[in-house]
Amino acid sequence: ALRHSVKPKAQKQNRRSWNNLQPQASYKVAVLGAAGGIGQPLALLIKMSPLVSALHLYDIANVKGVAADLSHCNTPSQVLDFTGASELANSLKGVNVVVIPAGVARKPGMTRDDLFNINANIVKTLVEAVAENCPDAFIHIISNPINSTVPIAAEVLKQKGVYDPKKLFGVSTLDVVRANTFVAQKKNLKLIDVDVPVVGGHAGITILPLLSKTKPSASFTDEEVQELTVRIQNAGTEVVEAKAGAGSATLSMAYAAARFVESSLRALDGDSDVYECCYIQSELTELPFFASRVKIGRKGVEAVISSDLQGLTEYEEKALEALKPELKASIEKGISFVHKQP
Ligand code: NAD
Ligand code: LMR
Repeated sequence: ALRHSVKPKAQKQNRRSWNNLQPQASYKVAVLGAAGGIGQPLALLIKMSPLVSALHLYDIANVKGVAADLSHCNTPSQVLDFTGASELANSLKGVNVVVIPAGVARKPGMTRDDLFNINANIVKTLVEAVAENCPDAFIHIISNPINSTVPIAAEVLKQKGVYDPKKLFGVSTLDVVRANTFVAQKKNLKLIDVDVPVVGGHAGITILPLLSKTKPSASFTDEEVQELTVRIQNAGTEVVEAKAGAGSATLSMAYAAARFVESSLRALDGDSDVYECCYIQSELTELPFFASRVKIGRKGVEAVISSDLQGLTEYEEKALEALKPELKASIEKGISFVHKQP
C-alpha cells in the first residue's frame, strides 16, 4: 500500500488555516468500499476529524486516486490505500473503527432486500477479514439491507469466535438525520436543537420515528404524524427516484456515517455523553436485533435507552407491532444465509 502523509512541518506552517486541525487523539479508521458513492465523501469527512491519525481506504478498484487526492488535505491523519483482496488484511491491522459501505445500491423500483444476493456475500467476506485482523474494532455496517447484513456479520463473528455484540452496529443514523430535518422544517424549529429517536430497522415500515419523543417537545396533528412518518420511511426511495438510476443516497449518508464515526471515536476516547440510535443485537423487544437509542462508551454499547419505548402513542404502538414480522423475517434471512454456506 502507498503511504500518503502530511508532514508535521507543513502543518505547523499552516497553523491558522481553517482546516488545519491539530491531532487530539490517534485512532485508526478503515473504510471498506472507499471508492464508492458513499465511501469518497465519507473518507473526506473522516479526514477532517482531529481524532483520527490514520485513514485506511480499501476497495476492489479506484482507491489509489481517491487516497492520493485526499492526502493533500492539510489535516493530521495519514491516508493509506489498499486495493483488492490481497491487501484487505493489511487494511485492517491495528484499526479501531471499521466502516463498511461496500456493495451495490438500489435503482428505482427495487427494495433494499433486492440487494441481498450480492451484498450478503460482500459483507460476509469483509467481516471474516475483520474477525481475523481487528476483532476488537467497532464495526459499522452501512451495506444494505442492514436489517439482514448486521445479523450476517454477527453470525460470521460468532463462527470466528470473536463476536462482541456491543461493538457491532448497523448504521441507521441517516434515519435520525432525516427525521430531525423534516420535523424541524414542518414545525419551524431550530434545526440544531431537534432530536427525534428512530427505532426498529432500516427499510420501509421497519423505520419507526418516535415523533412523540421529539426534543424539544413538539405536538403534531394526526395528519402531521402520518405525513412525517411516511416521508421518513420513504426518504431513501425519494433519493433513489430523484437520482433516476444513478444510485441512492450518498452525500447525506456520508454525513450521517461520519457523525456516527465521530461519536464512536469520542466514546473510545472516554467521552461519557455519547448517545446515538443504531441497529444492534438487542433485548429491548422480542426481536434479536433492533434499532434504538443507546449510550456508547469505550467498550461499545454501554446502555440501551429503554425509556424510548415506554409511553408510546397508539399510532406508534401499532406501527411497532406492524414492523415486527418484516424485521424478524429479514433477521432470519441473514442468519440462515450464513448457516447455509458450504
Ligand atoms: P457505490 O456502488 O457507489 O459504491 C460501492 C463501492 O463498494 C464501490 O466502490 C465498489 O467498488 C465497492 N465494492 C464492491 N464490492 C466490494 C468488495 N467486495 N469489497 C470492497 N469494496 C467493494 O454504492 P454506494 O452508493 O456507496 O452504496 C453502498 C451501499 O450502502 C449500498 O448497499 C447502499 O444500499 C448502502 N446504503 C446504506 C445506507 C444506510 O442508511 N445504511 C444509506 C445509503 C446507502
Ligand atoms: C437510504 O435510506 O437512503 C439507503 O438505505 C439507501 C436506499 O436504498 O434507500
